[in-house]
Amino acid sequence: MDWRIPLSDIDFDDNEALAVQNIIKSRWLTMGKVTQEFESSFAGYTQTKHAIAVTNATAALHLACLALGIGPGDEVIVPSLTFVATANAVRYVGAIPVFADISSHDDLNISPAAINMLITSRTRAIIVVHYAGYPCDMPAILSIAKQHGLFVIEDAAHAVGSELNGRKLGTWGDIGCFSFFSNKNMTTGEGGMLTTDNDDLAQKLSRLRSHGMTSLTWDRHKGHAWSYDVVDLGYNYRIDEIRAAIGLAQLAKVEKNNECRRHLSQIYRSALQERVSQVDIPFQNHVGKTAAHIMPILLPKGTNREKFMGSMKEQGIQTSIHYPPVHTFTAYNSDTKWNLPVTEEVASREVTLPLFPTMGAEAVDTVVSAVCASL
Ligand SMILES: Cc1ncc(COP(=O)(O)O)c(C=O)c1O
Repeated sequence: MDWRIPLSDIDFDDNEALAVQNIIKSRWLTMGKVTQEFESSFAGYTQTKHAIAVTNATAALHLACLALGIGPGDEVIVPSLTFVATANAVRYVGAIPVFADISSHDDLNISPAAINMLITSRTRAIIVVHYAGYPCDMPAILSIAKQHGLFVIEDAAHAVGSELNGRKLGTWGDIGCFSFFSNKNMTTGEGGMLTTDNDDLAQKLSRLRSHGMTSLTWDRHKGHAWSYDVVDLGYNYRIDEIRAAIGLAQLAKVEKNNECRRHLSQIYRSALQERVSQVDIPFQNHVGKTAAHIMPILLPKGTNREKFMGSMKEQGIQTSIHYPPVHTFTAYNSDTKWNLPVTEEVASREVTLPLFPTMGAEAVDTVVSAVCASL
């Protein structure tokens, strides 16, 4: 489909092309010095002690659960209004995802009050998702976690560059998990990053990423090691030098691009309020600095969403839904009756409009006109 305005688009230029070319010329493709540079640059950018690059954010979430020792019988509180990977990671380690409601129609993030109500003697951790890059109430969530001795994992897939109280999201909890999938604010095609300030966790995460081995091919190439031991049941969740090089080029652009996203989101907000006041726009009252990953709106109650999206499509504008709630999927069918009224209502009305740094204000105006015409 040739969209007039797609949902998202990448910002690649000669820098990414040159970065890839340099790797090919260097003849070292697996994790090596460029991956190390990507990790240290990302750690510097997020002001965190350790950054560990992995093959995608799903792998990051899996490793985070493993490294924190979460396992069979444990419960982990997660939002249902998220991408399925957040909850899947809990199940990969044999633990049970427990779904908490979101705060309100304005704040689509996990509700601290809902978290509090779901804590049992089996709860081990909370995974928060910073929806669209808007910060969860981290002070409240960390205080609950401290009170009950729980770990906090941040699914920061949408939130590279987001801040709360001047501190980057993904660095508030025990471990942060970032995604560099192709629709994300910075992309390597597939890719992800783990962040932590804890030395032991960092060492564990690095080992689990590469088969639980005590040395890497790169260490042996550099003559730093001859052999290795395997001390954990690890995985191959490594990134490669090509993607690390693209990641470095993208990281250099992320601040500027996030600023564009925030600017375009503001234009959307003003235009929608002025021209289609019956539409609700979440995160009007958000705090902190958002990465503005996506532009969600809530259609008026009773609107036929399928028809609305069909009409947008006819006008060449791609839209999407973030998200069909995880607890409603067939693979999550259980006897548990989840109490998620706000999630369910928001999820039934949500539509995501196109947002990407290079789209320009004129395209925003075209989308808003199409929204008006489609309602
Ligand atoms: C909230 C959230 N969590 C996790 C993921 C998984 O990321 P990845 O595709 O890098 O595995 C995504 C990706 O879309 C996401 O949006």
